[in-house]
Amino acid sequence: MNTEQTRKRLVIGNWKMHGLLAANASLLDGLHKGASAAPGCDLAVCVPFPYLDQARTGLQGSVVSWGAQDVSKHEQGAFTGEVSAAMLADFDCQWALVGHSERRTLHGETDQLVADKAIAALSAGLTPVVCVGETLAEQEAGQTEHIIARQLAPVLALGAQQVGRMVLAYEPVWAIGTGRTATPEQAQAVHAYIRSQLNGLGVPEVRVLYGGSVKASNAASLFAMPDIDGALVGGASLVVEEFLRIAAA
Ligand code: 13P
Repeated sequence: MNTEQTRKRLVIGNWKMHGLLAANASLLDGLHKGASAAPGCDLAVCVPFPYLDQARTGLQGSVVSWGAQDVSKHEQGAFTGEVSAAMLADFDCQWALVGHSERRTLHGETDQLVADKAIAALSAGLTPVVCVGETLAEQEAGQTEHIIARQLAPVLALGAQQVGRMVLAYEPVWAIGTGRTATPEQAQAVHAYIRSQLNGLGVPEVRVLYGGSVKASNAASLFAMPDIDGALVGGASLVVEEFLRIAAA
């Protein structure tokens, strides 16, 4: 079944560890004022934890939603430095990124932990954005599908009811922050593979975003691909005009 028509485009900005109050204020203001220029596209930003309240205040009443870049798998307790899904929900977050490659690489997050975090997010009413992607070495060794399958396995094992409430993001590690985007055809091939997994589970409506050096200049060709439902944008999400142009692409 082709539900391409029914999957509304979604563009999420991942600010990563950038921004301070003053810079955020003008970015949020620009988004609030400009976001209606991209109808037909869901728009969101995932900001550092301390700025969730600022995002909520700055974006309330706009079409832009907000979320966090990580979430604990634990509900509550003695987990110093962790932030629970309920805390994110307290700030009206709609989204929580889980399994970003920077978390997997720099913090040793396992495939199972990522699935646990996704469940924690769902339990608090958030939509987890589950990130997967292979490294350059893995890609060059022809292991892309194998790696994606391994990363997705514990997530897909959660079943259709849970996965149907998620968003997935394919972010090849070699394309993140490098200026080296996957070609639309390269990205589509992996998205088609992910889509086949989702179809197999009976959840063809799940949106699959592409991430990795997405800019206004390459967004339209990526979005033209049948299985690319939007983008997870890093660097370009810090420049309001660029981010809005991606959303409008
Ligand atoms: P860039 O868009 O800066 O390559 O980052 C992509 C990313 O990691 C988004 O989560």
